[in-house]
Amino acid sequence: MISDITSARDDALSRVAAASSVDEIARLDAELLGKKGALAGLKSGLGKLSTVEEKKAAGAAVNEAMSVVEEALSERRRNLGRAEREVQLAAEALDLTEFAITPRRGRAHIVTQAWERLEDVFVGLGFQVAEGPEVETDWYNFEALNMPPSHPARSMHDTFYVDHGAPGSTVLRTHTSPVQIRVMQLVQPPIYMVMPGRVFRNETTDSTHLAVFHQIEGLVIDRGITLADLAGTIDSFTKAFFGTDFGSRLRPSYFPFTEPSAEFDIRTPTGDWLELGGCGMVHPNVLRAGGLDPEEWSGFAFGFGIDRMAKERHGVGDVREMYTNDIRFIEQF
Ligand code: FA5
Repeated sequence: MISDITSARDDALSRVAAASSVDEIARLDAELLGKKGALAGLKSGLGKLSTVEEKKAAGAAVNEAMSVVEEALSERRRNLGRAEREVQLAAEALDLTEFAITPRRGRAHIVTQAWERLEDVFVGLGFQVAEGPEVETDWYNFEALNMPPSHPARSMHDTFYVDHGAPGSTVLRTHTSPVQIRVMQLVQPPIYMVMPGRVFRNETTDSTHLAVFHQIEGLVIDRGITLADLAGTIDSFTKAFFGTDFGSRLRPSYFPFTEPSAEFDIRTPTGDWLELGGCGMVHPNVLRAGGLDPEEWSGFAFGFGIDRMAKERHGVGDVREMYTNDIRFIEQF
């Protein structure tokens, strides 16, 4: 009996040693230590032994053999499991520093380039830079700028309304001029500020019109500011931004928030005139809306289209081309 137990144990141990996967160990565990296994068969035959001593010795030998096999199974399971994990990790390893393709060097969009250059030029002229929200109240976008609800000038701006608050009270700002009011409310004069940003109009797009575009607003408030200061600033800006071979002119126009008002045109080296923005002396009602006394303070404001400036600077035929999101377009500049 003892020799049967020893050979069953040795047979089991050599099969465990030969197992090559965790799955195989699971199968062997059930087979070698289960009810139908050789050792279990020997255990159930103990009753047939004649003496108590023989039963005791054989019983101890079977139990010992089973625990040796069980220990061998656990150890082999551990080793195979570790090896299998290592193989799996090696197969799934990712080299995060590896490039699938050679990266293409990016470039700032020409509107971003123009925006940054405009800020540089105005900072060079002594201005500070501020920004305001793109979603505005009707009050900041229209009313504080001298355009009460029934004012016909509102029809110049085909507006996107936002479903927020009372109907018609919240808009996507149609120009950067509302930031004038926000700046006046926040900063005590003298104010020399430019305010670039994105604006929105419900426009049909064409070669010079977009529904989402960019403006840079300028606001100067001080004592004794005159139209001559406005004209001088615009001309200095034109030469600094476009070059000394460019000129500028102010052409009479109308904006509810400035009085007098003008369009600002630039003259290209070939002698053509191009409209870039509006400007004028800040209307007394606008100063009051911003909390300033028009008897004490005066100033001028302007608003230029950044997309049109980028278009002119780079000779782009159609503003819509700038937003086709084609990297080959941006790579040209
Ligand atoms: C205004 O928006 C005024 N807020 C400008 C202003 C500011 C006047 C301060 C006086 C004092 P206007 O709607 O003309 O004005 O727009 C100004 C500039 O934005 C235009 O000259 C043009 O360069 C640009 N612009 C206007 N509409 C579009 C459009 N749909 N697409 C691209 N650029 C536009």
